[in-house]
Amino acid sequence: MSSVTQLIRYGVAFTDTWRQATDSSDLHLTPQRKPSWLETPWGGHYHGGNLFLDRPFPVRLTGTKYACGRGGCGACTVMVSKHDPVSRKIRHFSVTACLVPICSLYGAAVTTVEGVGSIKTRLHPVQERIAKSHGTQCGFCTPGMVMSMYTLLRNHPQPSEEQLMEALGGNLCRCTGYRPILESGRTFCAESSGCQQKGRGKCCLDQGENICTELFAKDEFQPLDPTQELIFPPELLRMAENPEKRTLTFHGERVTWISPGTLKDLLELKVKHPDAPLILGNTSLGPAKKSQGHFHPVLLSPARISELSMVSTTSEGLTIGAGCSLAQVKDILAGRVSELPEEKTQTYRALLKHLKRLAGQQIRNMASLGGHIMSRHCYSDLNPVLAVGNTALNLMSKEGTRQIPLDRDFLAGLASADLKPEEILESVYIPHSQRWEFVSAFRQAQCQQNALADVTAGMRVLFQEGTDTIEDLSLAYGGVGDATISAQKSCQQLLGRHWNEPMLDEACRLLLDEVSLPGGAPGGSVEFKRTLVVSFFFKFYLEVLQELKKPGKLLSVALEDFPATVPQGVQSVDSHQALQDPVGRPIMHLSGLKHATGEAIFCDDIPTVDKELFMALVTSTRAHAKIISVDLSKALELPGVVDVITAEDIPGTNGAEDDRLLAVDKVLCVGQIVCAVVAETEAQAKRAVEETKIAYEDLEPVIFTIEDAIKHSSFLCPEKKLEQGNVEKAFEEVDQIVEGEVHVGGQEHFYMETQRVLVIPKTEDKELDIYVSTQDPAHVQVRSKLAPTSPTCSFRRGLQSPQPHRTGHQWRNWLPHSSCLLDREDDMLITGGRHPLFGKYKVGFMNSGRIRALDIECFINGGCTLDDSELVTEFLILKMENAYKIHNLRFRGRACMTNLPSNTAFRGFGFPQGTLVTESCITAVAAKCGPSVREKNMYKTVDKTIYKQAFNPEPLIRCWNELAEFNKKNYWRKRGLAVVPMKFSVGFAATSFHQVRLIYLCLLARFTRQPHWFTSTQMGPYWSHMEVASRELKVPTSHMHICETSTATVPNTIATAASIGSDVNGRAVQNACQILLKRLEPIIKKNPEGTWEDWVKAAFEQRISLSATGYFRGYEAFMDWEKGEGDPFPYYVYGAASSEVEVDCLTGAHKVKKIRTDIVMDACCSLNPAIDIGQIEGSFTQGMGLYTTEEELKYSPEGVLYSRGPDDYKIPTITDVPEEFNVSLLPSSQTPLTIYSSKGLGESGMFLGSSVFFAIADAVATARRERDIAEDFTVRSPATPERVRMACADRFTEMVRDSRLFS
Ligand SMILES: Cc1cc2nc3c(=O)[nH]c(=O)nc-3n(C[C@H](O)[C@H](O)[C@H](O)COP(=O)(O)OP(=O)(O)OC[C@H]3O[C@@H](n4cnc5c(N)ncnc54)[C@H](O)[C@@H]3O)c2cc1C
Ligand code: FES
Ligand code: FES
Repeated sequence: MSSVTQLIRYGVAFTDTWRQATDSSDLHLTPQRKPSWLETPWGGHYHGGNLFLDRPFPVRLTGTKYACGRGGCGACTVMVSKHDPVSRKIRHFSVTACLVPICSLYGAAVTTVEGVGSIKTRLHPVQERIAKSHGTQCGFCTPGMVMSMYTLLRNHPQPSEEQLMEALGGNLCRCTGYRPILESGRTFCAESSGCQQKGRGKCCLDQGENICTELFAKDEFQPLDPTQELIFPPELLRMAENPEKRTLTFHGERVTWISPGTLKDLLELKVKHPDAPLILGNTSLGPAKKSQGHFHPVLLSPARISELSMVSTTSEGLTIGAGCSLAQVKDILAGRVSELPEEKTQTYRALLKHLKRLAGQQIRNMASLGGHIMSRHCYSDLNPVLAVGNTALNLMSKEGTRQIPLDRDFLAGLASADLKPEEILESVYIPHSQRWEFVSAFRQAQCQQNALADVTAGMRVLFQEGTDTIEDLSLAYGGVGDATISAQKSCQQLLGRHWNEPMLDEACRLLLDEVSLPGGAPGGSVEFKRTLVVSFFFKFYLEVLQELKKPGKLLSVALEDFPATVPQGVQSVDSHQALQDPVGRPIMHLSGLKHATGEAIFCDDIPTVDKELFMALVTSTRAHAKIISVDLSKALELPGVVDVITAEDIPGTNGAEDDRLLAVDKVLCVGQIVCAVVAETEAQAKRAVEETKIAYEDLEPVIFTIEDAIKHSSFLCPEKKLEQGNVEKAFEEVDQIVEGEVHVGGQEHFYMETQRVLVIPKTEDKELDIYVSTQDPAHVQVRSKLAPTSPTCSFRRGLQSPQPHRTGHQWRNWLPHSSCLLDREDDMLITGGRHPLFGKYKVGFMNSGRIRALDIECFINGGCTLDDSELVTEFLILKMENAYKIHNLRFRGRACMTNLPSNTAFRGFGFPQGTLVTESCITAVAAKCGPSVREKNMYKTVDKTIYKQAFNPEPLIRCWNELAEFNKKNYWRKRGLAVVPMKFSVGFAATSFHQVRLIYLCLLARFTRQPHWFTSTQMGPYWSHMEVASRELKVPTSHMHICETSTATVPNTIATAASIGSDVNGRAVQNACQILLKRLEPIIKKNPEGTWEDWVKAAFEQRISLSATGYFRGYEAFMDWEKGEGDPFPYYVYGAASSEVEVDCLTGAHKVKKIRTDIVMDACCSLNPAIDIGQIEGSFTQGMGLYTTEEELKYSPEGVLYSRGPDDYKIPTITDVPEEFNVSLLPSSQTPLTIYSSKGLGESGMFLGSSVFFAIADAVATARRERDIAEDFTVRSPATPERVRMACADRFTEMVRDSRLFS
């Protein structure tokens, strides 16, 4: 095998074959994407991207995932290795493949996750450790995580924890809560300690406790051996040493890519193609092409021009080539900072501060300094600092060179201050700072890292020597207009002033006047941004004051940003287990290794079948309108288009009357599917979507908000109500009454794997095989109305909640092979999410804090169709009392119908929203009567709920006490602290939803086969059911195999939801095992010393059936809404969480410099503590996102969704994990009802995330108290930095308000 092929086998692409290919005349570039893995003619593999060569090569690598296409999630991370012409070293760096044009990889080696290791050959330690540390759940983010960590280790075999955090900052995970992923990475770090408590001088095992805090055995990990890594291809090295000087040109169908080999050629090309952009990192051009449809027929790639990567220093400053990546710039600046005296490096330090937070590592590796500056994004982090730092741009053209300042006019794009069309930016000159000069940088974003800043700023002041008199002042802001703004006028007026309070006041007034955001400024949030403009200046004022060593009464304000530290924590579980019994052990996820190696097959990884077509959806652009006409003529004429499917083409019913699959006559929301184009490629289908013309006539009313729906009495279902006691009378007898309102924002699922489906029609009997990502295959089957069909699921589903009406498609009988993969944008547009809630409460209580009466009325925004909204309303009402016994209680709830995409069930089914209202009431009472209010009002003894179901709250009290005990032993800041209790009901309020059927096949030849019907959202089930079978049959799990979920093997399944999956499926497994064992009993008795294989063989010979259907009828559950009584839930999960946060009152940031979260959860006898702890951490983090960072989806006034990807919608990132995160499973807890006394923990932890919300509210209340303003205020959920900042009202918010009043 040649070395080329050898390397290809390992997923390494290199380009000497490509070079040969470029000589071939039939080479074309074609913009396309599907499938998510792509093959190239030059023999390598490359995933995602914009430009692909169109001759397939028979290599199928599916590891690299596609989740956003905008560089924002890291799922597509691969490692690129290049020879650096300047340092003459090999540079390994991670990139997000979705933004890397394939043509830019000339001379590069690409290593995908397959190149790192494989189950079949050899696992890489990174893969082994992430799997064994329980760092995977759905596994969709895992290959990206592996590649980020792998690249880090290629550069730093023993990285620091800071480097680990930096490396993973660009990778999102929606399942795990990040802690176990970081834990696996930490095992490589120099300073990592085995037991997490040992690092702090304390080890659980040293204390002889029966508590285990290690969920994996570090000693079993294979060591990292850097000598075993793949080498850089010698062919590429030879190429690098003898670089190609010819211009390489790639002609595509619509795009020409030109890569000159010399600077001279580049400058000539720029004259020839003045409009052609220079493409470097493609992190600006790429997203603009995807989301704004920007198109450039010619692209000039200067990647091979070494002059653009030069770095030079003088005694005055530093010149950095425009082609240097931001990661390289960071290293260069860090180098200068370490070499030069502090006074000379003020600007460099300020830039470094931003470079740590700007995007994720992959983007910093790709984005160039030149591209960053030239993009002139209004949110640019570096441009404001460069502008105040007197940076100059060295330009070059065929005519010669010249220098221009990077100033206000350049940033505003004024022609007189800009590059000429034939010019390029060659390098950037950043002068040293000088004595008595101070430079700072500020930014505030939704999350600490990997989020564009709301406002960003660079500030510089120069004093007259030895004084505090301002000689020069520069202030520049980003995020406050269409371009970076320099506050020149204000600065001019402050010259000659002393650096003191009167100057501060004057500066703020001037700034508010000059940096005046219009009401419709990009991104909105005008008040917040204006507040940040002055708050940042205030921070700068304090910093400089400190530098000048001047005493200031306000210096106690935190000046440093919150650091991004690797979380510490303990996971405690009971550890008294028989060694041979797998039940209750922290055993690795069944698919963990496959996730880590990329060998797990997701829906989109199924190999393309012959004649497969691609489907793209045409969606409504109107919120409420009559469809006047649909013109498909142009779309149908386009090459490759096979058909456009409309409602008329659907045989049978087109969904329910009020919930159509494809719109008929009218549309109810923007994003509703009207028709579907089927074409030979994704690009063709998408082009045809653009050519489909639909004429609408708008209808009234158009309703978007809950308030409007109430006004129009627009509801989806009747009110749900529960009441006990005499609420009115109780209100008359209480000492105090508080009333309030609570708003809880919705939540986007943001599952990493977007909705996907593959349909393969069978020629015989009109059957269809439908491969679909869903939790509810039977529902999809029913909706497809072409039974018997066989939907088969990609079983590694993320956190997707049921959206069957979106995934169940109906097809024409003749429909050829077809697949549909929703882009993140379309997925967010079409599918709904968690219901936003508006609640009103009235609570009556005695001065002692005992609550006597509570009346809550809630409305949820259901969107345009019923979907699960009635069920969510019911669950909301049933679960709203949470852990509190209040004798006089009234809960009412209604689902509003609005013209938004239909909202649906989402982890917790309304519980996280409803209980936030209840906890807000309790918090309001606690504000009057003291912190013991929660405990005072909690259920204490065996009792009945509001719906008269008896239960014993003893585990709840134990969780609460355990937490209190734990907290007592630890130091707590008193500011920003909250503790919440939780009683979460598991399961559905209907017995039929708990029934489970499993077919259990026992095969000959030592093989136990267990086809298994359900999709795993909570990830535990597959493994835990093997554990159940293993315990029942006393057969090791290594003898077992679980098949994919399929309605062909197990019909009439129910959805995996409501945290009941592990339990009820486990019971069915148990039943099947017991049936089989009973049949085998005589044989075993006869040959007790025999092996499992002997007995199975004997049974086969005696014609004893070796397959059994296991069945569990389900727990009895019912609810009588007429009477308001029932036993709707089989059992409860109890828990308690406390969080401590610190809030930056000047910016609203609440990562929480010192955040600590402790959770105690009653899991009883956990089937797999590692998976249960993973569920708790993952759902807690998702809950923390719901209540803090995941700002409500933003819509235009016409109902068009703005938030369409990771840059507009922020799920928690790795830096948002609590700095100290302790999770304990309550020891010695039992429940007789469930399988092996376990409990389902899939959803409950969501609500515990609210402890962070209430801790933030507590911190804000303290701040308000200090400022003598009313303590009771409403922080809306999510408590975003904006809301927090504005709630911490102070002189700056007042200045903003006053400036608005008088402007
Ligand atoms: C996921 C993501 C997160 C991000 N987060 C942040 C963030 O937090 N903060 C922030 O400030 N930015 C952020 N960015 C933006 C990023 O910093 C810029 O997109 C990037 O720096 C552009 O560099 P590039 O090399 O990729 O430019 P390209 O996309 O390759 O080019 C951009 C433009 O620059 C021009 N150009 C490039 N080089 C030259 C040259 N030498 N001479 C003349 N013209 C030239 C090109 O013609 C083109 O018009 C983010 C981007 C992404 C994708
Ligand atoms: S798919 Fe490439 S970063 Fe998200
Ligand atoms: S495991 Fe990370 S997204 Fe699912």
